[in-house]
Amino acid sequence: MSKITLNSKVNVPNHVAVIMDGNGRWAKQKGKFRIFGHQNGVKSVRETIEAAAEIGVKVLTLFAFSTENWSRPKREVDTLMSLLATSLKKELKSLQKNSIQLRAIGDLKNLPEKAHKELKEVILKTASNDRMILNLALSYGSRAEIVNAVKSISKKVVNNELKIENINEKTINNHLYTFSLPDVDFLIRTSGEQRISNFLLWQIAYAELYFTNTLWPDFKKQDFYNAIKEYQNRERRYGKTSEQIETNE
Ligand code: FPP
Repeated sequence: MSKITLNSKVNVPNHVAVIMDGNGRWAKQKGKFRIFGHQNGVKSVRETIEAAAEIGVKVLTLFAFSTENWSRPKREVDTLMSLLATSLKKELKSLQKNSIQLRAIGDLKNLPEKAHKELKEVILKTASNDRMILNLALSYGSRAEIVNAVKSISKKVVNNELKIENINEKTINNHLYTFSLPDVDFLIRTSGEQRISNFLLWQIAYAELYFTNTLWPDFKKQDFYNAIKEYQNRERRYGKTSEQIETNE
């Protein structure tokens, strides 16, 4: 494939979210166990983080483990969790060197102790890094996130801390796991599946969507840049007309 030249000075999405899909199929194609796909998927995680930081993406959210993923065979879940713990330990140095701040969203208390401990440690150690936020969605489900937000808001109403008539979009936003992050500008999903799978439903309201047939372990820097190039050619209208966008109305 010919290399795509990328203008990294203009129209770089602020917040990119990625549904990393296809590890199992990639391994199967090679006659290996699914776990082999996840192990190789970690290399694509590293390439994507590097590529995003290099072009000035400010927030990169990766869907690493969904609430539904807990129902996979125990062996696969255990391997994914230990891959997470070892990768966090291994990558800390490089996160520090590149000033990348780690964060996580999801029902984190469900994570096994070792992975949870490693996660908290890296989050703490990278808290003052400011080049890019790497936000891992772990044990994450968007509907559960919205239910949590509704519960917290309801409690405030019951306790007279908040008036119903003052609830607006910002209120909802402020009660999501992603409260301090900007909306998603660009959502990438690999492996040819064209669905959202309960990922950041509120936050992708105006995001551009990008689907590629590439399986996650084959997704490399250049694939990320190809996706960004497509984003840069899209026109985001937010319900307005092209003419309004052109004249900045
Ligand atoms: C989807 O492929 C991938 C996952 C459920 C897990 C993604 C995890 C990694 C890439 C490794 C660890 C992550 C970090 C952040 C270190 P799939 O298993 O659903 O593939 P299939 O659809 O082909 O079965």
